[in-house]
Amino acid sequence: MKKANTYAIIGGTSGMGFGLAQRLVERGDHVLVGGRSVTRLEQAAKQLGPAAVVRPVDMEDRASLAAFFDGFSDLAGLFTPGASYRTASFREADSETAESPFRGKFWAQYWAVHAALPHLAEDAAVLLMSGAASVRPIGNAAYAACNAAIEGLARALAVELRPIRVNCLSPGTIDSELWRNRPVSVREPVFEGWRSLALTGRVGSVDDAVSAALFLLDNGNMTGSTLYNDGGYSMR
Ligand SMILES: NC(=O)c1ccc[n+]([C@@H]2O[C@H](COP(=O)([O-])OP(=O)(O)OC[C@H]3O[C@@H](n4cnc5c(N)ncnc54)[C@H](OP(=O)(O)O)[C@@H]3O)[C@@H](O)[C@H]2O)c1
Repeated sequence: MKKANTYAIIGGTSGMGFGLAQRLVERGDHVLVGGRSVTRLEQAAKQLGPAAVVRPVDMEDRASLAAFFDGFSDLAGLFTPGASYRTASFREADSETAESPFRGKFWAQYWAVHAALPHLAEDAAVLLMSGAASVRPIGNAAYAACNAAIEGLARALAVELRPIRVNCLSPGTIDSELWRNRPVSVREPVFEGWRSLALTGRVGSVDDAVSAALFLLDNGNMTGSTLYNDGGYSMR
């Protein structure tokens, strides 16, 4: 029987992170799941069962990241979809808003990998999260640039951290809680617009993104790559 591996997922209480945690547990692996909300952590623990350890963590707080990994060693993988940021156009964004994607998504993942490093197995796989706005922005300049920077970070870390593999998942619009928690009046026009922009004519599912994430974590010949799980959006 295959030995159970343990994967850390920060941002694992909802959306793509939670979807991946479910898939890993289903196949017999263990997960260390982090997020900020204790209520969401408790819900995740209940749904995932005994193969999951849940811990509060804020990716923007380095002390909290260090505490998150405490006591864990030989982790087989790390996935970091946890991010909080605001978006606005270049002309309209104040400095707080403009800088929030780099703070809440780029530096958050940079320091998460840093904190995880002593706890990762030699042949571990790290998976960063960006977004297809990196290569096809529709505005929100700082957010688009932040996603491109994360994809660059994955390439550089793949070189520096080898033999640890480092890849990046770059989804298009995915029907996760990120959108479901927003009012229909906000969500539907975005989804409608997306259907006409994506070559597939549909919004991606959490399941689509989780399969792509699992491929990047599992495939020993993948490192330094960004996988666009975006229905062909970034090609047009
Ligand atoms: N869904 C899309 O359409 C889409 C498209 C492109 C890119 N993405 C990217 O994919 C990532 C996640 O998306 P999702 O749709 O899965 O989102 P989601 O359903 O909103 O899940 C986000 C998860 O991250 C956690 N989180 C947020 N900020 C955190 C922080 N500072 N520290 C630790 N955990 C934090 C949340 O829990 P707490 O709030 O309790 O901390 C939650 O578990 C984001 O980076 C997003 O930019 C999403």
